[in-house]
Amino acid sequence: VLLLLVLYFISSGSNTQEKGKQPPGPKPLPVLGNLLQLDLKRPDESLHELSKKYGSVFTVYLGPRKVVVLAGYKTVKEALVQHAEEFGNRDIPPAVAEFNKGHGIIFSNGDVWREMRRFALSTLRDFGMGKRGSEDKIIEEIQYLKEVFKAFKGKPFDTTQPVNYAVSNIISSIVYGNRFDYNDPQFKAMVNRANENVRINGSVSVQLFNMFPWIGPFIMNWWKIWRNAKANRKQITELINGLKNTLNLEERRCFVDCFLIRQQSEEESGKKDSFFHEENLFFSVIHLFVAGTDTTSTTIRWGLKLMAKYPHIQDRVQEEIDRVIGSRQPVAEDRKNLPYTDAVIHEVQRLANIVPMSLPHTTSCDVHFKGFFIEKGALVFPLLTSVLRDENEWETPYTFNPAHFLDQQGRFCKKDAFMPFSAGRRICLGESLARMELFLFFTSLLQHFRFTPPPGVSEDELDLTSVLGITLNPSPHQLCAVARS
Ligand code: HEM
Repeated sequence: VLLLLVLYFISSGSNTQEKGKQPPGPKPLPVLGNLLQLDLKRPDESLHELSKKYGSVFTVYLGPRKVVVLAGYKTVKEALVQHAEEFGNRDIPPAVAEFNKGHGIIFSNGDVWREMRRFALSTLRDFGMGKRGSEDKIIEEIQYLKEVFKAFKGKPFDTTQPVNYAVSNIISSIVYGNRFDYNDPQFKAMVNRANENVRINGSVSVQLFNMFPWIGPFIMNWWKIWRNAKANRKQITELINGLKNTLNLEERRCFVDCFLIRQQSEEESGKKDSFFHEENLFFSVIHLFVAGTDTTSTTIRWGLKLMAKYPHIQDRVQEEIDRVIGSRQPVAEDRKNLPYTDAVIHEVQRLANIVPMSLPHTTSCDVHFKGFFIEKGALVFPLLTSVLRDENEWETPYTFNPAHFLDQQGRFCKKDAFMPFSAGRRICLGESLARMELFLFFTSLLQHFRFTPPPGVSEDELDLTSVLGITLNPSPHQLCAVARS
């Protein structure tokens, strides 16, 4: 194996060198590549450090796998936007390929991706992304979440589960047309499985599997991934069948309805090789849940923790909400009148940096970029950490500073380097929905509760280290949600 890998390094190097200058990078060791230079608990931070030495386009080896890393706002933006086509394919890691087989939205390419993405975007838009539809669903869900928070009567609790339930219900309403009771055992099982998958997929063992797929059967938790995949398949199929049995062509209730109707119409018109088949439906549903739940709920939890850590910032947010909104329910329209709160939400997203290496891309063809040659099919990491911490773009990249998004007059100001949703062809499909959720959850919760550390824990002791799952999570903690009069 060792000999083959050495030969592979030599041969792949000599082929591409003829076509142009290769991006620089630390010298790889046989088999291990540059693994010893990376902290697998925070690979994004190690890569950010390496970019300071090797520049904004460089190469590292994750085991035998070569990765081109793009670092810094200008470079990442240029690659993903100006060279959108060339850098716009998705890499499908071995741990995902075991299950996904190129279906759905996130882990597909070519025509399947184009059709599924276009369909999901237009359907989500019809179900109210940015319009009243999803706003109403979010506001309805917030009332349930507030009740759960209230029931703790100011005593410390872990916000993870209630926030996950609430955010999952938003996606459920869009995908299946209804929310679930938080005590529904099926729903609990579904959300808990999703959380477990997020944890496992971000673990060091799965990262190692993606580099050395032949260790597959031995890695920890492999059986749990299979067990969860099987249970997901059963549950989602049941939910889809329920909708199929009550389908009414005149009344589209949800994403699944729209898909089934399109499937029927393509079948009836005799369309060959339609993309609207069961596997694409199943994986599109899974992808909307996977991408739309953990991301948003993690960001909300970062926001609450940061408010507890920085009470003077929480004071200003609450003063603004009380002055502008008073006691009525906040709505999306209020954002423009809440510049400080808006700046705080943006700064939460910037500092939390929950998808630090974006999702892996590959090049769709040979590319000449910034003086370097990058071959077709190269694995590419757009390093969002290096964008959201870019010292040329942010005054204090490592501290929580809402002033990053405010001008001298205290008005909200947009920043181009604010890219937590990535950019270009693969930019987050749920950005508008996520932004609305974050605004409504954050303002509604802060309107009703004061968030503090548990008794006996000082604000300084609330630590801001992140724990890597698929997203960067706040380290485990409890908060008190004290009802405001
Ligand atoms: C992709 C961030 C919420 C659906 C992504 C990507 C990022 C991201 C960084 C990868 C983009 C790339 O490959 O360059 C976030 C953040 C969120 C969030 C920070 C919340 C705070 C959502 C929501 C949904 C969603 C609510 C669903 C409705 C997707 C999908 C993709 C994606 C389907 C794959 C797009 C594709 O491959 O074409 N997201 N996301 N996301 N996101 Fe989000």
